Amino acid sequence: MPSPDPQTDRWWHRTTIYQIYPRSYFDSNGDGIGDLPGIIGKLDYIRDLGFETVWVSPFFASPQVDFGYDITDYLSVAPEYGSVEDVDRLVDEAHARGLKVMFDLVLNHTSDQHPWFVESRSSRNNPKSDWYIWADGKGRRRPNNWRAANLISSAWNFCPLRGQYYLASFLSIQPDLNYHHPDVKQTMLDVVRFWLRKGVDGFRLDMFGSIIKDRDLRNNPFNRRPRFMEGTPVPELFVQKYNLNTEETFAFARELRAVCAEFDNPERILLGEVFGSPQVLRRYLGGDDGLQLVFLFDFLRYSYNADFFRRRIAAYERNFPGPLQPTYVLSNHDRTRSCSRVDGDLRKAKVLAVLLLTVRGVPTVYMGEEVGMTNTPVPLAQAQDILAKSFAFLPEGAFQALQRILKETLNRDEVRTPMQWDGSTHAGFCPDNVTPWLPINENRHERSVAAQVGKDGSLLELHRNLLHLRRTHPALHSGDLTMMEETPLDVLGYRRRAENDSTVVFLNFSDGLASVRVDAGDILISTDSANHVDDGTLYLHPHSAVIASA
Ligand code: BGC
Repeated sequence: MPSPDPQTDRWWHRTTIYQIYPRSYFDSNGDGIGDLPGIIGKLDYIRDLGFETVWVSPFFASPQVDFGYDITDYLSVAPEYGSVEDVDRLVDEAHARGLKVMFDLVLNHTSDQHPWFVESRSSRNNPKSDWYIWADGKGRRRPNNWRAANLISSAWNFCPLRGQYYLASFLSIQPDLNYHHPDVKQTMLDVVRFWLRKGVDGFRLDMFGSIIKDRDLRNNPFNRRPRFMEGTPVPELFVQKYNLNTEETFAFARELRAVCAEFDNPERILLGEVFGSPQVLRRYLGGDDGLQLVFLFDFLRYSYNADFFRRRIAAYERNFPGPLQPTYVLSNHDRTRSCSRVDGDLRKAKVLAVLLLTVRGVPTVYMGEEVGMTNTPVPLAQAQDILAKSFAFLPEGAFQALQRILKETLNRDEVRTPMQWDGSTHAGFCPDNVTPWLPINENRHERSVAAQVGKDGSLLELHRNLLHLRRTHPALHSGDLTMMEETPLDVLGYRRRAENDSTVVFLNFSDGLASVRVDAGDILISTDSANHVDDGTLYLHPHSAVIASA
């Protein structure tokens, strides 16, 4: 038998990723906050569902102003989540179940309470004075025109102690590290080594595109066609030429990969949170250097129609041909829950689940999507999310209207509410006599694991079936993809084919019955029991999907 081709047969080519926001997954000690032992207790659930990799959002020491994306010590664990021993146990227990584990690595910035920053801001000539990006103002103006993540504020923040500005690409409590300083780079690469040594299988890289900025801090050029960015209330007036996706950042991706390669076997992976056109994103990836995967975020703001997905998939197939793998995602801890985009319609959620788990690439599923969780309304005045708080100058009514116009939640609390395990008062997330850190959604009675487990036709069981099918069919986990040209406009159809295995997938995005000519064999999965093949024609009921052998 020929040995597997290392270019095309790597564990991460076939994997499926389940994202856990630790604060909201399961509270094992009754303080209203999820924790690492809570995740460990649910690994059987994740394995039995059929996911292969778990990505855990940050659990490192942090004042939790941005809930872990503001770190004060990269080598220790926030006490409310557990300890380093719990991390060791998480890795071991996951591996014992055949699961891979990815951590979330926040390299771009620290918390402003990190001792490095406290020292750095204390004077202009302390040992850490250049660990962050400091600059003088230009008269009364800021050093340049770079914007923070909300696009409303400047990325530059004045520090009276130094009489200078520091750069914070996300928000002011998260100062950017200066990767032009060799000690910063070495220290952070050693952080990476520390966790790799503990056996982590890879990292999701937070804000990776922003890591290395222009040394000369040049102004970004004006944007001739200002666009609304995802999750921001104002259009982007400048092209982020000098602070995003720089040549030095592409080079850093290769350096980071080399560090991972020191720990090969199994191969460790890097998945970047990066923004840009497919051509730019492609530049992060390499064969044996660069990142293995980058998120393709277009799906986060999908329009629920066949044409949207047809065009996007075609573009990604062109730009990320095998052995590259597109990384698809419909929602995460920052963005509107996918099910809310389709007004909670479970038929549509099922069509989307079929799409995500059968298209060529690595699918990422945010916890709770498997039971159809939706956004939980949280008024701006009660927001805990720091990004939402940066819009606190808006009256509640205006804020709500803005969210409706943008079709996007600007208060990330709404998508981070506790995982719905059952229909009890706190959805089985924490005991009934404890207040959970965020409210529980009213729909926990139907949209919970307990309500759907073992129920034929539930969204949860559909996920289990899809993950099983994907694992057992080479066409689905490692085959190529060809779009079907001759489907009605509202139907998306594609074929997945590997050696000796072939399947076809049809998704009807319309309100009407659709029919397609097929030479398909058995129906393997159908989201509507009325779908059937009759005399070479597949009848697809509204908002339903079919996978068939072919
Ligand atoms: C993370 C956010 C976080 C931000 C700053 C991201 O894009 O996904 O949750 O607030 O980076 O670290």
